[in-house]
Amino acid sequence: MKKAIIGGTGVYGMGGEARIETVTTPYGPVEVDLVTLGNEEVVFLARHGKKHSVPPHLINYRANMKALEQLGVKWIYATAAVGSCNEDFAPGDLVVINDFLDFTKNRPVTFFEGGGEPVGHVDMTTPYCPMLRDHFMAAAKVENITVKGEGVYVCTEGPRFESHQEIRMFRMLGGDVVGMTNIPEAIFAKELGMCYATVGMISNWCTGMQQEQIALHDIETALGNNKEKLTRAFLRVFDQSLDQQQCTCNRSVVTL
Ligand code: HPA
Repeated sequence: MKKAIIGGTGVYGMGGEARIETVTTPYGPVEVDLVTLGNEEVVFLARHGKKHSVPPHLINYRANMKALEQLGVKWIYATAAVGSCNEDFAPGDLVVINDFLDFTKNRPVTFFEGGGEPVGHVDMTTPYCPMLRDHFMAAAKVENITVKGEGVYVCTEGPRFESHQEIRMFRMLGGDVVGMTNIPEAIFAKELGMCYATVGMISNWCTGMQQEQIALHDIETALGNNKEKLTRAFLRVFDQSLDQQQCTCNRSVVTL
């Protein structure tokens, strides 16, 4: 199994028949769906659990990503519900993430924990695989999916939303969308040599971008319209043969 989809808020399955498997990792067990695509199986992992019961700051990111590695996964598409702090990206829009700002505070952020192992540093020149991003754009065109643009993901610790002033700061720093889960997921993918790309689904305006408070029902509506389309585009890419020689994702760890 070489290809996987990580479903964020609002995306809890791929549709169709799935075989459920529990993967045992050094960080704990992880339940995944295995779905047949042509003559291979694609892995589906619900980031927050199938019932959306694990909050962003308590997700076992290391277990999730280690489980995918143990299954042999090399290519991952992830979805992420995000707020927009860029006037050009409105609720309901899709944005391909091209970089991040890490404002998390309290989660394990690496697999390199010392203990006699070589010290590893991972290169973040292209945190999101350029090859997977390009393939997604092409597949989206074929599937008639409008992608609003590319944007910088600000990752907060959550689970609270941001203050007015925090959003002002993120805008000044170049952030476009705000979420609570892409870090450390994107970092772990690189540490494990996997190609990883995220499509942000804008679920709301960030705090202070509009007069009213953030409305949670907006999140459901915005995601409802997009999730099937996105899965179709991901599977269209996965149907092609992919090659890690076209990017540097599996050669990004520098050990000292
Ligand atoms: N802020 C942080 N995370 C989010 C938001 C937001 O406005 N919307 C969805 N995830």
